[in-house]
Amino acid sequence: MKKLLMLMAVALLPLTALADSDNKYGGENRGKPLLPKQINAKWQEECGACHIAYAPGLLPADSWRKLMSGLDQHFGTDAALATNENRAITEFLVKNESNRWRAKSAPLRITESAWFKAKHGTHEIAPDVWKRASIKSPANCQACHLEAAQADFNEHRIKIPK
Ligand code: HEC
Ligand code: HEC
Repeated sequence: MKKLLMLMAVALLPLTALADSDNKYGGENRGKPLLPKQINAKWQEECGACHIAYAPGLLPADSWRKLMSGLDQHFGTDAALATNENRAITEFLVKNESNRWRAKSAPLRITESAWFKAKHGTHEIAPDVWKRASIKSPANCQACHLEAAQADFNEHRIKIPK
């Protein structure tokens, strides 16, 4: 009996650890790490042309698939790519998706995810701060995160512009 109880305890350990990260932000959590060691150069170049190249770990694979299949109508712009480039970039994004996203949701925007909203709530940033000309859009990560382009969002490297 004692042995059985021990076995049960050992079997349950990883389950409780998993449940903890599962529930964070209703399952909409960013990945860790956000960026793999091997970066795809095409992704960096093409997806970093108009804004920072958003790290693959910021969203789940389904978000990236949706986004990459609608590049000709990308938030009001045309960001379409040649088929082979699209395929290579999609592969890179999907392979390095958020490894902590458990929800079935797949938002097109990072800024619509539960983890983003939780980290950027009114307790951290007053609502009128977002309206500053120096920020313009919550998607403009590098306005506040000085090293956002390197997927470094460490709180010590945040400076909210005037
Ligand atoms: C021609 C310019 C352009 C290119 C190239 C481009 N984007 Fe965008 N992207 C935009 C614009 C404009 C927005 C909307 C920004 C805003 O709302 O402030 C956007 C928004 C996004 C967002 C949502 C940000 C958020 O959370 O609000 C994601 C994710 C994204 N782009 C991914 C990509 C990926 C992946 C690529 C490369 C395949 C790419 N973009 C290439 C113009 C571009
Ligand atoms: C108006 C300034 C501002 C903008 C724009 C902004 N952030 Fe933040 N971000 C913050 C602040 C402030 C925090 C809270 C830091 C803390 O918890 O102490 C934060 C926290 C974070 C964290 C958590 C850091 C940690 O170590 O817990 C991540 C990840 C993050 N932001 C990513 C992003 C991404 C990705 C974007 C763009 C899509 C973005 N942020 C846009 C100000 C901003």
